[in-house]
Amino acid sequence: MRKQALDLGFWVLRDVSLADRKAKSRQSFEPGVAPVHKPFVPPRLRVYPPPLMADSTPLIRNISDTARWVAVYRARETERPDAMFRDPFARRLAGTRGEEIAAAVETRTPESWPLPIRTYLFDTFIAEHVRQGGDLVVNLAAGLDARPYRMDLPRSLQWVEVDLPEILAYKEGVLAGETPRVALRRVRLDLADRPKRQELFAELGRLAKNALIITEGLLIYLTPEHVGALADDLAAPPSFRRWVVDLVSPGLRRMLTKQIGGFLEAGNVPFKFGPEEGAQFFAPHGWRPVEVRSMLKTAAKKWRLNPFFHLLSFLPDPKPPFDQRRPWGGSALLDRNR
Ligand SMILES: C[S@@+](CC[C@H](N)C(=O)[O-])C[C@H]1O[C@@H](n2cnc3c(N)ncnc32)[C@H](O)[C@@H]1O
Repeated sequence: MRKQALDLGFWVLRDVSLADRKAKSRQSFEPGVAPVHKPFVPPRLRVYPPPLMADSTPLIRNISDTARWVAVYRARETERPDAMFRDPFARRLAGTRGEEIAAAVETRTPESWPLPIRTYLFDTFIAEHVRQGGDLVVNLAAGLDARPYRMDLPRSLQWVEVDLPEILAYKEGVLAGETPRVALRRVRLDLADRPKRQELFAELGRLAKNALIITEGLLIYLTPEHVGALADDLAAPPSFRRWVVDLVSPGLRRMLTKQIGGFLEAGNVPFKFGPEEGAQFFAPHGWRPVEVRSMLKTAAKKWRLNPFFHLLSFLPDPKPPFDQRRPWGGSALLDRNR
């Protein structure tokens, strides 16, 4: 009963505060122009047109455009006086398209704190692994991530970035002339190509004794079957010791789809993965969760929340199996269990 009331409170307050902000931003205050009063339509009943650019291409054209979008939040974090990390390359990497995507997404959801929090959590897991003697980091779906250039890492560390050819070519163009702090290699590969990725993992496995895999912002775009198969393949090389993933509950996946699904569908990249079991999803695939950190609680510690979300952060984290409605997001460190 208490839990239902809390859930209901969350949904009502979220929709009311969003509706207020949107209604205010719709008013016209130009001199001589009467304010336009549109009939109020509750947010859940609104039908949004597919988001298009002026030339009629979708705002998010393909999966790699999501890399431009998330880079914007690293740029913004960098510019804060209390930045949790600094990425001096992010603004250039995100480019105009990244800014346009972020601006459009913010018309549907004003909450942008989860993205810098996710980056911060991944940074802390990576730094811990390197401190503990990790000799290789494999960043699958690296996108426009610039950690090899911006993090304090030992020169002897090997770092491999894997992503689709177009986004890596763009990134190399922007970062030409910059020097990474580690031994960096980029691999242009469609990770959906299973034989090719198994071949790559076997090769990388031979290069290292203690490798960390990171998949920041990738799994949500894959089906559970694909995530399971990827996990199986990552468990094959014995030197792939740890893996950092980000996760959403089914409730958060649904909420994100409602808020910004239209953008992603236009580029044919819907949100697909939000397992009920949380990080335990990976256990049958060779990966044991060792630590799960909540985005909301981390954001509260870092003072990134508005008063409403800050209040919510005092609630205990939901435990898997997650119910279908409660939103939750976090990052998890997995350890090989074979
Ligand atoms: C949301 S972005 C995240 C990028 C980066 N990890 C970050 O956090 O900034 C998702 C990335 O996944 C990559 N991606 C998606 N599907 C892929 C595939 N099948 N093979 C390789 N990369 C893929 C996209 O190109 C994109 O760079």
